Amino acid sequence: MPEADQNVERPSLEAAQRFLDESSFVWHQRFQLVPGIYTPGPNDVEWLFGVAGVPMDLSGKTALDIGTSNGGAAFELERRGAERVVAVDIFPPSWFGFDAIKEFLASNAEFVEASVYELPALLQEEFDVVVFWGVLYHLRHPLLAIDAVRTLLRGVGFLETAVCDGEVGELSSLPLVRFYRSDELDKDSSNWFAPTVGAFVDWCLSSGLDPKVLGAWPKGAPQRCMLRVTRTAGDAEYRALSYERPLEFSPGRAKRMKLLLSTYRRSLGRRLVARIRALLRL
Ligand SMILES: C[S@@+](CC[C@H](N)C(=O)[O-])C[C@H]1O[C@@H](n2cnc3c(N)ncnc32)[C@H](O)[C@@H]1O
Repeated sequence: MPEADQNVERPSLEAAQRFLDESSFVWHQRFQLVPGIYTPGPNDVEWLFGVAGVPMDLSGKTALDIGTSNGGAAFELERRGAERVVAVDIFPPSWFGFDAIKEFLASNAEFVEASVYELPALLQEEFDVVVFWGVLYHLRHPLLAIDAVRTLLRGVGFLETAVCDGEVGELSSLPLVRFYRSDELDKDSSNWFAPTVGAFVDWCLSSGLDPKVLGAWPKGAPQRCMLRVTRTAGDAEYRALSYERPLEFSPGRAKRMKLLLSTYRRSLGRRLVARIRALLRL
């Protein structure tokens, strides 16, 4: 774990061990709570930082961690000097203990309970660094999520997901996407899509991101892939190729839709009453 800020006073080893022993939430991630004391989750956050090559010095940057889980990446982005860190998850902050860990670390990372799709309308902000690891294959609308990431991105994004190259073998040179209707991927019914590395790259290009493959593993038959992305200039590529329009869903739009619907219902009601009256010759 990097020592980006040596001046920050950290909790003691004993306090950290006690915190872990007493925790009762789900641990998904492994990261150093304090130097030398690792959280007990299976997903190695330090390793992901290594594959992504996230800069050690993020001084003055804003950072967004989508699908934060225990907050391992969010707290590390803060440790690397990010001025503002926003951590997002669909589960409340107590589920993965984000709130408790934040308090223990005296972190300023902000938690937002939301789905990735809602973030452009909800945050209305662009970030210097966006981390989006281990979420895409859990989504039923992966392209919509990548579109959202583009909207939220000003600087550099790191996208990691499950890929199906290992599973499809020789076909992996094609931009294929494997759909898992049930729990075929890792016996987990919350997994929906895994692209080949090529399709993952194409998804990003289509959504107006410029991708670079940073790693795909295990070697020879990849099951996971990490991309570095930046935003392309102008509209996303797909806009020029099709009539698909970006989904705009904002609280304001929702309100307007509701108003329209109630006006429509009222006029429908009036038309119905008029028809009944006509039938009854009133
Ligand atoms: C496999 S974990 C990955 C956690 C972390 N990013 C990592 O790589 O260690 C997936 C995380 O994404 C969250 N998640 C799932 N669907 C999401 C969505 N639609 N929007 C935001 N987060 C989501 C889950 O609750 C979970 O915390």
